[in-house]
Amino acid sequence: MTQDVELARRPLPVIIALSAAVSCFLVWLIYFKGRVAEPAWVGALPACNALFNSLSAICLVCGYVQIRRGNRLVHMRFMLSATVFSTLFLASYITYHFFHGDTHFPGHGWIRPVYFFILISHIGLSIVALPLILATLWYALRSQFRFHRRVARWTFPVWLYVSVTGVLVFAILRAYTT
Ligand code: HEM
Repeated sequence: MTQDVELARRPLPVIIALSAAVSCFLVWLIYFKGRVAEPAWVGALPACNALFNSLSAICLVCGYVQIRRGNRLVHMRFMLSATVFSTLFLASYITYHFFHGDTHFPGHGWIRPVYFFILISHIGLSIVALPLILATLWYALRSQFRFHRRVARWTFPVWLYVSVTGVLVFAILRAYTT
């Protein structure tokens, strides 16, 4: 194995352990912790989550367009902005589920399988997205661009799918619960 590859593999155990810990925490928070008395402002958080996901998706697309045009600095700025918006989303999502727990979907008929397909693929890919994002950022910030590019080609579509489906889940839930 070349020294390059060995160096690139070094952070992976930490990245994977950290991502697994975050995923386990979220499963506990949403499905096992149970609800606590909910202040009124918590009702506004799902809309904030959708906003952060939309902004993240927009930054991802802009960042991708910029790197295809060879604009590395603007690419970096958009991708770091996408990271900030996704971090804000995660903070807002954790706060919401701290109070709210699991969300019941009341829809019936054709929308039910559509909703659950989107939701399950969204959750499944968000578990994969976290280590991909961390590895992509790590390689970029260490100027290991050969590895950055290799991982980023997976990170970009997975992250974009997770952001866009996050907004879709919110929109469908809103349409069926109000
Ligand atoms: C986690 C967020 C990021 C994602 C999803 C991402 C995504 C990508 C993708 C998909 C490519 C390959 C484009 C192609 O097909 O040619 C790429 C290349 C590149 N990215 Fe990022 N990027 C991210 C963050 C960054 C950051 C923070 C920097 C700067 C420090 C950066 C610098 C670069 C450079 C210089 C290339 C060109 C590499 C080469 O062609 O050898 N990226 N990025």
